[in-house]
Amino acid sequence: MKAYHLNGHSGAGRLVRVDLGKPEPANGEVRIRVEAASLNYRDLLILDRAGQGGLNGRVPLCDGAGVVDAVGSDVVQWQVGDRVAASYFRDWISGPFKASYIASALGSNTQDGMLAEYAVLPATALVSVPAHLSPVEAATLPCAGVTAFHGLIARGGMNKGDTLLVQGTGGVALFGLQFAAALGARTIVISSSDEKLARAKALGGSTLINYRDTPDWDVALMKATNGGGASHILELGGPGTYDRSLRSVASGGKIVQIGVLTGFGPKPDLARLQWENADIIGVTVGSVEHFVAMNRFLTEHAIRPIIDRVYRFDDAPEAYTHLRTGSHFGKIVVGF
Ligand SMILES: NC(=O)c1ccc[n+]([C@@H]2O[C@H](COP(=O)([O-])OP(=O)(O)OC[C@H]3O[C@@H](n4cnc5c(N)ncnc54)[C@H](OP(=O)(O)O)[C@@H]3O)[C@@H](O)[C@H]2O)c1
Repeated sequence: MKAYHLNGHSGAGRLVRVDLGKPEPANGEVRIRVEAASLNYRDLLILDRAGQGGLNGRVPLCDGAGVVDAVGSDVVQWQVGDRVAASYFRDWISGPFKASYIASALGSNTQDGMLAEYAVLPATALVSVPAHLSPVEAATLPCAGVTAFHGLIARGGMNKGDTLLVQGTGGVALFGLQFAAALGARTIVISSSDEKLARAKALGGSTLINYRDTPDWDVALMKATNGGGASHILELGGPGTYDRSLRSVASGGKIVQIGVLTGFGPKPDLARLQWENADIIGVTVGSVEHFVAMNRFLTEHAIRPIIDRVYRFDDAPEAYTHLRTGSHFGKIVVGF
């Protein structure tokens, strides 16, 4: 089968095309013929570290969707032909997170990912794809979609009447925006680009702030909400945005701590959290249970992921280059 491996031998991480044997499912496992795989910001971080800690020689990308192609002898819940996507953590099926699940993240230093024609995974690590979605659309769900759903809805309880702040117009941000719009919540979008803000408006964004023109976007947000602030915040930036997020949170609000777009290890002044009786919700993607619940929500509200661009399998390295520019709006996908 055709696949890509991470290669860090030359110092700078890169992708190399490889031909591998078609994997066979053992008992309890399912083989998927992958139809599409999508990219997330974390895949750039992983590519850049491809020479370190077991990444070299791994199949990259956590996100993929396709069709069940073969099943192990004791698999009862899936049949050949079923449309499925892989959950981000192979081992986090339901219930609270455990640190031991980290090593089961797909496309990591311990697990192969989805940028290969076939993938074999435990039957328990798969979910059915919503019927209204194409394979390309379904491939965008496992990381960005589940992260936004877990943080904002499963843990954050976002609903009609709430006000959401999303930072930028990448994958997680636009899922958050679409979920809020479906619930009838208000969304404030900050972005580097007026053109992207216009597109966000068409998706339901109601207050639009260009953070390049308005670096004090927290002040603009407070003005736009008459001092009330945002009840829910998708904190995607990290050190460069965290203090402004804290100054944007409503009384009793929730900051969903997710991102590292400006780096790792924010050291925010947490005084305002206490002052506002607000909460921080820390999120690492989500479980199979979260994924199934999100798919019900997507179906109920007929939500389709926003696709920026689809690359051919042979052009997967260009998809990474495009992601790195930050010029995308929504998800970048590799179609097989
Ligand atoms: N904790 C978790 O489980 C988890 C899961 C998924 C993602 N993440 C993290 O969440 C972040 C977003 O991931 P993604 O895959 O959605 O990224 P993405 O699709 O690559 O989104 C990048 C976009 O973020 C915006 N951005 C960049 N710097 C910004 C800043 N300083 N302020 C506001 N917006 C900024 C830009 O949009 P504009 O051009 O519109 O400004 C950029 O295009 C990443 O840090 C990723 O590692 C964490």
